[in-house]
Amino acid sequence: MLGLCRSAAAALLPRAGPPVAAMSTLLVSQPRYSWLRELGLEEENPGVYNGRWGGRGQVVTTYCPANNEPIARVQQASLEDYEETVKKAKEAWKVWVDIPAPKRGEIVRQIGDALRQKIKALGSLVSLEMGKIFVEGVGEVQEYIDVCDYAVGLSRMIGGPVLPSERPGHVLIEQWNPLGLVGIITAFNFPVAVYGWNSAIAMICGNACLWKGAPTTSLVSVAVTKIVAEVLEDNKVPGAICSLVCGGADIGTAMARDERIDLLSFTGSTKVGKEVALTVQERFGRSLLELGGNNAIIVFEDADLNLVVPSTLFAAVGTAGQRCTTARRLFLHESIHDEVVTKLAKAYAQVRIGDPWDSDILYGPLHTKEAVKMFLDAVEQAKQQGGSVICGGKVINRPGNYVEPTIVIGLPHNAPIVHTETFAPILYVLKFKEEKEVFAWNNEVKQGLSSSVFTTDLGRIFRWLGPKGSDCGIVNVNIPTSGAEIGGAFGGEKHTGGGRESGSDSWKLYMRRST
Ligand code: UN1
Repeated sequence: MLGLCRSAAAALLPRAGPPVAAMSTLLVSQPRYSWLRELGLEEENPGVYNGRWGGRGQVVTTYCPANNEPIARVQQASLEDYEETVKKAKEAWKVWVDIPAPKRGEIVRQIGDALRQKIKALGSLVSLEMGKIFVEGVGEVQEYIDVCDYAVGLSRMIGGPVLPSERPGHVLIEQWNPLGLVGIITAFNFPVAVYGWNSAIAMICGNACLWKGAPTTSLVSVAVTKIVAEVLEDNKVPGAICSLVCGGADIGTAMARDERIDLLSFTGSTKVGKEVALTVQERFGRSLLELGGNNAIIVFEDADLNLVVPSTLFAAVGTAGQRCTTARRLFLHESIHDEVVTKLAKAYAQVRIGDPWDSDILYGPLHTKEAVKMFLDAVEQAKQQGGSVICGGKVINRPGNYVEPTIVIGLPHNAPIVHTETFAPILYVLKFKEEKEVFAWNNEVKQGLSSSVFTTDLGRIFRWLGPKGSDCGIVNVNIPTSGAEIGGAFGGEKHTGGGRESGSDSWKLYMRRST
């Protein structure tokens, strides 16, 4: 299945070769990128949708991280556009909330099907604009499709208990009602899936959605919204049920302050997330936060090293280290430290680096030039704090924002740089002696998103899952830190923000309880 997608990608995406003379400098107008038209993208694209397309704000150009060439332009929302869109979304909600939940589910099912039709083109756009490899781009769209399927089932299952009343002749019911308007702010690194996780669940719960994606992935936001809007319009329901306001910090701040936004789901850095949380809290609003991670893999002496090496590689190097679930710390038992480091360094040397859309490539660029600076800065700090770079550490000499996947050894577990989330492929390898100490080290960072242990000791596995084990939201055994499943509740504790989205009972966050 993935193999098929890959070969299809080769047909869709540009191949290396001499540049074709073109009238426009924008990639969207070059013949080899004509597949972008399949997604409805043009040179200039309106970045606001509220039943109608528009946008009177700043025009942004988005760039391909693999070569820094401009793809196309998007006209973002002005504050007037924002105001108009919130009003239309609120009106649309009145229609949406009257539609029975299973019928809302049916519309979400159609959104999933519409995404299935466009999965290759949309996955390719993610690869082109975000910079992740094609299979990961397609994987993101697949997650949105999967969460649609999940939401369809859920639309027939949401219920509240009827509890025994202590008063004779009384009934005690807990009924779940929709919140109203759910604001969704997503990050550049998952420009499709995270919107899908939020919107599919929010919709079947009976909410309207207002989305602001990252400005640097505006074309993905526009392309996804076009697919969703067509389904809504075909069903003769207001398009503003899934409104879009492309924009920067001004729009984000307006959303955080806006009392009409009944829940604000925010995915991004801990720094910005804190500002969002405080602003929303000031108005006693509700927020759902998915912030930073500083995720560790712990490998005990009894672990199966054949699992450890590919898992660590996938978790540390996948998406070029730009997942909130990326493994950043690798704790190795002292008895196996040198062996694993040697094997890992060998595996790192074999990572195929290149254009993210090429089918045999495993590793693409960082998203922006700023990210390259942050990478170099972190490598420098790691060296200053006593670390030795045994793999990578440098910028790759080719167009685009490429850096070498990097391994640093020899730092203490509590070095400041080890406790800092740098959104880049840098893995700090650290030595430990015993379980108690390493579980404490896993938990000593501010963030609490994902964690993994590799061991065959059953008692240890249960200690890891229990009250004195990992304090993270995602607690893995013998699998890597990244690669969320939509069926579970996704999110983390402490500075990760405490939110939960996607599966399990996360739907409750998109509803209010009436007892
Ligand atoms: C994953 O690890 O597959 O921003 C999902 C992120 C998360 C999603 C990670 N919100 O990286």
